[in-house]
Amino acid sequence: MAEPRRLGRRHLLAGGAGAGIGAGVGFALGHNDSAPTHRVATEPPAEERVAVHGATQAGVDRPLTPATQLSFQVWHTSGALEAATWARLLGTLGERLTTLVAASPTAARLSILVGVGPRALASAGLDPALASLPTFRGSAELPQAKRTADLVLAAAADLPEAANTAMDALRPLLTEHGLERSWSQLAFRARGTGMVTHNPLGFHDGIVQPEKRNGIPERVFLSSGKLGGGTIGVVRRFEIDVPSFEALPLAEQEAVFGRTKATGAPLSGGSIATDVNLTAKTPQGEYLVPSGSHVRAAHPSFTASPVMLRRSYGFRTATDGPQDRAGLLFWSFQDDVATFARTQERMDREDRLMEFARPSAEAAFVVLPGFTRGRPLGTALFA
Ligand code: HEM
Repeated sequence: MAEPRRLGRRHLLAGGAGAGIGAGVGFALGHNDSAPTHRVATEPPAEERVAVHGATQAGVDRPLTPATQLSFQVWHTSGALEAATWARLLGTLGERLTTLVAASPTAARLSILVGVGPRALASAGLDPALASLPTFRGSAELPQAKRTADLVLAAAADLPEAANTAMDALRPLLTEHGLERSWSQLAFRARGTGMVTHNPLGFHDGIVQPEKRNGIPERVFLSSGKLGGGTIGVVRRFEIDVPSFEALPLAEQEAVFGRTKATGAPLSGGSIATDVNLTAKTPQGEYLVPSGSHVRAAHPSFTASPVMLRRSYGFRTATDGPQDRAGLLFWSFQDDVATFARTQERMDREDRLMEFARPSAEAAFVVLPGFTRGRPLGTALFA
């Protein structure tokens, strides 16, 4: 289980320097004057598929740079399943997803992550509270099926059809076991630098990440027991009033986040790679990173929390009504659900960003420990 609580270290810009988002994409330019000019994107293709097997599952911290397309699904069982049923279901799921990833194009960088919710933990003799959320602002209005999960599936790929067809292929197995899909979200993120990308409001997102020790992010994975190699995942889907936010003057937008829009640098100064200085003030005594800003509200120092690993995706769904449904599928991993919960509770009290965001679904779950051919998915919990 988790080590004694202490403030986790922060790593800015996992994956390297803060070069422009999308760096690495080159263009071969046709420059024969007599021929029509055309451009061909020449980003080098992935050389290997994302490893399915290992001590941890793919999709948390590998690949380091998240794939651009995400299909996220939450399923519920019709009643509590016994441990033996979970073992069979998850074992088969692990085999099938291994086959799907092996058959996918290398360039897709497909990964499929599996998590289970509180009722499955109870079937495994574990405390359901390990993956349970308190009631946040806006949670009480949600139907129960959008506040909890029995099974979570998340396929990420650089080719949308690779993620979507993989999910389609897994569906019959789940429905045969009596599971029903409660909600799902197709989401996307620009291929960024490491975990940093632009979010739907145009700000750099994913800058502050856990420090790594021996290549493993600190305070993300559980280190021992049945859940060793697993992690606690939290998803919250926020619908965001993008037009109202974009209508704010630039300085106001930046005050909401506490970072600049153009470069991602904190308002306390420096570059995107500089840590936020929460005590720096103007000559008039105002905080440079204002009260009410998101990075101040979410900063782990106020809740004595470690740093969570954030890997969120944006979404925009066209509707037949007057306005698209747009927002952020916030997604984090940590070794204790309290890391997320304490942060969200503080944001509910202090964070101006929450005035533009309305939760429309949420779930906490245990991302199952990694698996191999000899140690099927779910074995650690249900065998
Ligand atoms: C509308 C939804 C959200 C948006 C658009 C958003 C966006 C951002 C942005 C742009 C940053 C600054 C850059 C960075 O460090 O990545 C940030 C930082 C952060 N966010 Fe969010 N966020 C959202 C929701 C959340 C939620 C729900 C949590 C957790 C409960 C959270 C936790 C954090 C943390 C811990 C930081 C780093 C703060 C620091 O140490 O400087 N965010 N977020």
